Amino acid sequence: MIQLDNVSYSYDKGGGISNVNLRLNDSEYAFLIGPTGSGKTTLLRLIYMELFPQVGKVMVDKYNSKNIKPRKIPYLRRKIGMVFQDYHLLNDRNLFDNIALALHVIGFSKDEIVDRVTESIEEVGLEGKADHYPQELSGGEQQRACVARALVKDPEIVLADEPTGNLDPVTSFELIKLLEEINREGTTILMASHNYNLIKGRGHRIIEIQNGTVRQS
Ligand SMILES: Nc1ncnc2c1ncn2[C@@H]1O[C@H](COP(=O)(O)OP(=O)(O)O)[C@@H](O)[C@H]1O
Ligand SMILES: [Mg+2]
Repeated sequence: MIQLDNVSYSYDKGGGISNVNLRLNDSEYAFLIGPTGSGKTTLLRLIYMELFPQVGKVMVDKYNSKNIKPRKIPYLRRKIGMVFQDYHLLNDRNLFDNIALALHVIGFSKDEIVDRVTESIEEVGLEGKADHYPQELSGGEQQRACVARALVKDPEIVLADEPTGNLDPVTSFELIKLLEEINREGTTILMASHNYNLIKGRGHRIIEIQNGTVRQS
């Protein structure tokens, strides 16, 4: 469960989100649609508890932005696979090690790490690229690497920030279908996009954001 109650966040120089109320139940698949600068990334960062609201509260299962202790934030983030808009891949390690990092932190065995990383690289269609460094991958491949890194933890929630921004239409569509498969196994998906054409007509909930304000459908 993800719930935002009357949440406002504004950056020092302006911009952000205001008075957002939103609830996503377990296993929902929702799109967050809005133009560039409307507050999509801000909203996702609030759920990931990288930002904390100045007004209102964010709840993700038992974690509450009002009283979460800093040492509990890693536990919250184990539940959440975050696909960052700007990738956040580490340039000094290859694709395999970038994806494996999340599992080392959790403490998986070496064999399990190899199995899981290999599987998630295949899931996003990057087989054969495991030993490539980020700068040896195209923009679209880096984006899919970022998706694989989010999925490898087998998270309860996936937050995907414009994960198709650098993909061609066919690959974009495949990614949306991959997220649908993952959703069918019970994972909650919230995917931000500015591309309405890509997501319309697939039967998912659409949450519209404009100028930091959310309109529910
Ligand atoms: N780190 C930041 N510092 C200052 N202002 C920011 C920052 N990130 C975003 N903003 C401002 O907040 C607004 C919303 O940004 P963002 O949430 O990134 O929108 P979107 O993801 O929909 O493009 C924008 O006007 C942007 O300029
Ligand atoms: Mg954004």
